[in-house]
Amino acid sequence: MLPIIAANFKANLTRAEVQIYAKELESLLTHIKSNTKASPQVDIFPSASALLNDDFTHFHIGAQNAYFALNGGFTGEIGLSQLTEFHISRILIGHSERRTLFSESQEFINKKFQFYKAAGFCIYYCIGEPLEVRQRGENALKDFLSAQLSGIDVSYPQLIIAYEPIWAIGTGVSATMEQIQATHNMLSTLTPAPLLYGGSVNGTNAGEILALQNVSGVLVGSASLKIESFREIIHAAL
Ligand code: G3P
Repeated sequence: MLPIIAANFKANLTRAEVQIYAKELESLLTHIKSNTKASPQVDIFPSASALLNDDFTHFHIGAQNAYFALNGGFTGEIGLSQLTEFHISRILIGHSERRTLFSESQEFINKKFQFYKAAGFCIYYCIGEPLEVRQRGENALKDFLSAQLSGIDVSYPQLIIAYEPIWAIGTGVSATMEQIQATHNMLSTLTPAPLLYGGSVNGTNAGEILALQNVSGVLVGSASLKIESFREIIHAAL
């Protein structure tokens, strides 16, 4: 099975830039499809103001965040009805930047999960530890990541789990292959969901990461912002 290659643009790229990017991505994937029998599953997550209709042939558009309601008095948020307008049916939940910068608790994240599960969304559910937890050893790591999965239906067929160690996000220093392998092996005992790795993935390390057991794909931040560097990661997946 070909891997899942996903891009989280965070608060980067304007709507106009995402429109150009999406066209280039569609033509890249069309080219890949015509030359190889299969191409990887590609999903991109632009900011809320840059959401486009999810009507491309070779990849899907997802939302980085949304509130657990159809619509209503939730200033600063978007809801299911705004996503439905763009035919969007995938969402990131539990990203460490939401957990830390926006103080999203496990209880709050659970509500989002339940709501978007009931709506049938493909949920990219993110987990990952701070450096001090990793330094405390294997048991501490397992306890921490298990707590981030608590209340989540880990057998939901539309669930994808992205393991993103916080200390590797945006630092240019990815976890080592040994760390990724050991953590993904451990996570595979907790859930049957596909497991993605995220944290300083780039065109150079993607091939090696994707070749590891229990790694079903990658979730890419910085290296997804330019189509040239995202293309290298897609090529590493072929
Ligand atoms: O969600 C993807 C992300 O957090 C990883 O970011 O910049 O380390 O690839 P980056």
